[in-house]
This record gives sequence, structure tokens and C-alpha cells, in this order.
Amino acid sequence: MLSFKLPFAAALLATAVVAQSYNAHTNGTNSTLGPDTDGKYEISAEGIRGLFIPYGASITNLFINDTNGIERDIVLGFDNASHYSVDPFHPHLGGVPGRYANRIKNSTFVIDGVEYHVEPNENNNNDTLHGGPDGWDWRNFTVVAHTKDSITFSIVDPDGKEGFPGEVVSYITYTMTPNTWHFKMVALATTKKTPIMLSSHVYWNLDGFQNDETPTALNHTLYMPYSGQRIATDGILIPNGTILPNLQYSVNDFWSGPKQIGANFSAPEIEGNCGTNCTGYDTCYLVNRAQKGPYDWRTSGPVAVLASPWSGIQVDIFTDQDAFQVYSCGGQNGTLPIKSTQGLDSRPRVVEQYGCVVMEVEDWIDAINHPEWQRENRHIFGPEDEPYVLEAAYVFSVNKTSS
Ligand SMILES: *[C@@H]1O[C@H](CO)[C@@H](O)[C@H](O)[C@H]1NC(C)=O
Ligand SMILES: *[C@@H]1O[C@H](CO)[C@@H](O)[C@H](O)[C@H]1NC(C)=O
Ligand SMILES: *[C@@H]1O[C@H](CO)[C@@H](O)[C@H](O)[C@H]1NC(C)=O
Ligand SMILES: *[C@@H]1O[C@H](CO)[C@@H](O)[C@H](O)[C@H]1NC(C)=O
Ligand SMILES: *[C@@H]1O[C@H](CO)[C@@H](O)[C@H](O)[C@H]1NC(C)=O
Ligand SMILES: *[C@@H]1O[C@H](CO)[C@@H](O)[C@H](O)[C@H]1NC(C)=O
Ligand SMILES: *[C@@H]1O[C@H](CO)[C@@H](O)[C@H](O)[C@H]1NC(C)=O
Ligand SMILES: *[C@@H]1O[C@H](CO)[C@@H](O)[C@H](O)[C@H]1NC(C)=O
Ligand SMILES: *[C@@H]1O[C@H](CO)[C@@H](O)[C@H](O)[C@H]1NC(C)=O
Ligand SMILES: *[C@@H]1O[C@H](CO)[C@@H](O)[C@H](O)[C@H]1NC(C)=O
Ligand SMILES: *[C@@H]1O[C@H](CO)[C@@H](O)[C@H](O)[C@H]1NC(C)=O
Ligand SMILES: *[C@@H]1O[C@H](CO)[C@@H](O)[C@H](O)[C@H]1NC(C)=O
Repeated sequence: MLSFKLPFAAALLATAVVAQSYNAHTNGTNSTLGPDTDGKYEISAEGIRGLFIPYGASITNLFINDTNGIERDIVLGFDNASHYSVDPFHPHLGGVPGRYANRIKNSTFVIDGVEYHVEPNENNNNDTLHGGPDGWDWRNFTVVAHTKDSITFSIVDPDGKEGFPGEVVSYITYTMTPNTWHFKMVALATTKKTPIMLSSHVYWNLDGFQNDETPTALNHTLYMPYSGQRIATDGILIPNGTILPNLQYSVNDFWSGPKQIGANFSAPEIEGNCGTNCTGYDTCYLVNRAQKGPYDWRTSGPVAVLASPWSGIQVDIFTDQDAFQVYSCGGQNGTLPIKSTQGLDSRPRVVEQYGCVVMEVEDWIDAINHPEWQRENRHIFGPEDEPYVLEAAYVFSVNKTSS
């Protein structure tokens, strides 16, 4: 079975890549750890505790103590791991979209002169979103390592799946250190050149939906100090090639200072800002750090800061990625349930419109269809290439002066 040899070798190589960076964690594999009765795997460190499931390598719960020492579960998810596979809406809750995150125009791309057609799954089959109708976050990953502060998931995505060329082998490692959630995503194209872009698709509400004055996240402040530009999209959020300026004080200015997400919701320009008939944000902001010379993503400052004045919880996001997607949950309409760990008994236990914020570290979306952006070496990977790597650290703090 010669065909098995190459993927197996690649898997070993990927293990080595992961193990190299996470040696301290992978040799601590703990056979006494496993899923709880809800099917979730816990990892924790001082001030932070997260629960994860194999489905989509998703985070389901993230517990942080707020400014008053009250524990809040600040991400969307379901109570039971078994619900993810049967939920009909599949809002990509907390998982890893792959093998190619965000939208592919007309479900088509060209590599070395060959045109590929992948499975469409959005806008009456006009495009492919998050890797297709059976993308990575619709599948169960394998848990390959689990310690009390780290978990590694793997997936082998076969040649031809969803129409993508070649096999991809990927490892997703989440690690907790005090007040910090780290992730490292590695993916290898083992047999053919193929597009790879991963992300983390977490829905945040830093009040755990327990703010008694509002069920929304519109009061959260967002700051993206490197994001003076964004990718223009058409009415169904497909990039049209243009890079737009986020003029100071315009609705898309989150770079000149922190601003509440709802601050500009009465401005006319906010209408349609996230696609036809959509009010708010669903936008790929560029991260421009190079103008100050070489930088180290771990120390050059966060690409984004989200904070809630009500809970006092703040997250500073550090990443090696060059773009950052923000979605203000305009499509929520009160049908998606929150968890038993969230919300108030005095209100419906559902996500209201604008009840959350999705933030995705990623690269420039649909760059495979924009060769003029010259980002091919971050989007197309073959067996000869270095692996695809995404790293991020989400650092939590509380504002001791609020409330
Ligand atoms: C992991 O293994 C290396 C080499 O054997 C050892 O130096 C290190 O202390 C180990 N780490 C843990 C957390 O056990
Ligand atoms: C979660 O689902 C599993 C399988 O259906 C079931 O065994 C378990 O009891 C459920 N947990 C809760 C808390 O409902
Ligand atoms: C929140 O504080 C309580 C009480 O001090 C503690 O038991 C718990 O572990 C803390 N939660 C987190 C996520 O650190
Ligand atoms: C979309 O792709 C199809 C092939 O699947 C092709 O026939 C069509 O011309 C493409 N449309 C556009 C607008 O590029
Ligand atoms: C999608 O494609 C169909 C034709 O296949 C077209 O009629 C429709 O207007 C397109 N756009 C949307 C948003 O559905
Ligand atoms: C994922 O695993 C869970 C738990 O074993 C199972 O209930 C579910 O059917 C699986 N889903 C898929 C898509 O394989
Ligand atoms: C393994 O699990 C035991 C029991 O929960 C715990 O005491 C120990 O610290 C764990 N070891 C590692 C390496 O996580
Ligand atoms: C939301 O922010 C506004 C100021 O923009 C403030 O007046 C209001 O009290 C805040 N509401 C909550 C629930 O924090
Ligand atoms: C792309 O859309 C933006 C508006 O969203 C527009 O300003 C720009 O001219 C469009 N670019 C192209 C090439 O159509
Ligand atoms: C946008 O809203 C208008 C007015 O409600 C409606 O006529 C139109 O069909 C909507 N367009 C889409 C694409 O949903
Ligand atoms: C609410 O959103 C869900 C999921 O997108 C959709 O299926 C449903 O039709 C929507 N309901 C209303 C009343 O718009
Ligand atoms: C802390 O919260 C207070 C009250 O909401 C606010 O005025 C202050 O700017 C916040 N400080 C930081 C560092 O976010």
C-alpha cells in the first residue's frame, strides 16, 4: 500500500513540527485525562479555563473571572458535544474553518494554469464558505495529546475532498498559560499544491450574556491599531480586489483609538457595510505592522483589543497573521441558544441580534483569486514547501477600575 506511506511520513513530520515547539506539553500526555460527561476536554492555567471538543477542534466554553471575581463563560457554544453534529444551523461555533477559511469567489481558483472547482455552499451556490459543505469544522478531529494545560487535535483531509486538490494533514494545538490562550495551527500539503488558510471562528460576548442592561455586545470597545485598510467586498461579501482606506473617524476606523462597536450604528454608511441589507461589520481588516521595520508578533503589540466596560474583561490578541475579520453578529435573530453557563433567567436564553462579536485571525481573504495582491506563498502550499503555520495568543485581563 504505497499510497499510505506518504501521508504517514507527513503525519510524523507534522508531529515533529508540533512537538518541536510544544515539547514541554506533548510529553506530558495524560491517559487519565479525557472527555467529561458532555464530551468536552478541559485545559486550564491560572485565571483561565477552556473546554474543547473534537468537532471542528472547537472551543465550547472559556471561563474568565470578571472585575468582581465572578466567573463568566465568554464564548458561544453548545452545552453538549453531541449537539454540534446535529445542529441544523451550524454557525461555525468556535471551530477551525478549513482547509480554506472565508469565501472563495465562484468556488473557483487556478493553480499553475489548472482551474479547480470546489463545492459551493453559500448564496445559492455562488461561492464556497469555510472550506465547503463538509469543511473541517463539520468533522471530528482526533485528539492526539491532552494534558491539563494543552490539547492537540489532528485531521487528515483527503485528496479531492470538497473538490480541493491533494491531501492536507493538520495539527491544531491549544495551550493555556496564566490568563492566556495560545494556539498553533500547522498544516502540510502532502501530495499536491493546494490552497490552505485556517482561522479560529469564536463568537465572543465578554459579559457571558449576563449584562442586565443589554443582551448585545454593542457596548464592547474594539481597537485595531494596525488596521487602516480593509478589503472591499460585494453584496455577498466576496472581495472585488480593491483595498479601501478606513478614513479616520469613519465607521470602519478602529485604528485611531478604541471605539464601541455600536458607536456608529446611526451613521448612514453602516447600512450595507457588511453586505446587502446588513448593518454593522463583517469585514476583513488588514494588519500593517511592517512600516516600523521588522517586528516580533509576540511583542509588537496586539493586533486587536476587545473590552467590555460592564464585566471589565479585556482580551488582547497577538498573532503572526496579516488580517483580522470582525463580524458583529447582525445575522443573529434570537434562534441560537446560549449555554446553561451563560445568560440571565429574566431574558430569553438565546443570542439576540448584535449579541456577539466574531473575531478571526487570518490572512487576506480570497487572495487565491487575487494574484495582484502577491500573497501566493501564504495561500498555496505544496509538498516541497514549508508547512502552513498560524500562531496566536489571546491575553486576558480585567479592568480593576470599572463597575
Ligand atoms: C519533556 O521531555 C524532555 C526530554 O525528555 C524533558 O527535558 C522535559 O523536562 C519533559 N517535560 C515535561 C513537562 O515532562
Ligand atoms: C450529552 O450527550 C451524551 C450523549 O447523547 C449524553 O450521554 C450525556 O448525558 C449528555 N450530557 C448532558 C449533560 O445532557
Ligand atoms: C474564579 O475565582 C474562583 C474563586 O477564587 C476560582 O475558584 C476560579 O478558579 C476562578 N476561575 C478562573 C477561570 O480562574
Ligand atoms: C464561475 O465558474 C463557472 C465554472 O464553474 C464558470 O463557467 C463561470 O464562468 C464562472 N463565473 C464567473 C463570473 O467567473
Ligand atoms: C447566484 O447565482 C444565481 C445563478 O446561478 C443568480 O441568479 C443569483 O443572482 C446569484 N446571486 C445570489 C446572491 O444568489
Ligand atoms: C463526532 O463525534 C461525536 C461523539 O463521538 C458523534 O456523536 C458525532 O456523530 C460525530 N460527528 C461526526 C460528524 O462524525
Ligand atoms: C495527569 O492527571 C493527573 C490527575 O488529574 C494530574 O494530577 C497530573 O498533573 C496530570 N499530568 C499532566 C502531565 O497533565
Ligand atoms: C453603553 O454605552 C453607552 C455609551 O456609549 C452608555 O451610555 C450605556 O450606559 C452603556 N450601557 C451598558 C449596558 O453598558
Ligand atoms: C469594490 O467595491 C468598493 C465598494 O465596496 C468600490 O469602492 C470599488 O470601486 C470596487 N472595486 C472594483 C474593482 O469593482
Ligand atoms: C434587501 O431589503 C429590501 C427591502 O427590505 C428587499 O426588497 C430586498 O429583497 C433585500 N435584498 C436582499 C438581497 O435580501
Ligand atoms: C433566524 O435565523 C435562522 C438561522 O440563520 C434562520 O433559519 C431563520 O429563518 C431566521 N428566522 C427569522 C424569523 O428570520
Ligand atoms: C476601566 O473602566 C472604566 C469605567 O468603565 C473606564 O473609564 C476606563 O477607561 C477603563 N480602563 C481601561 C484601562 O480600560
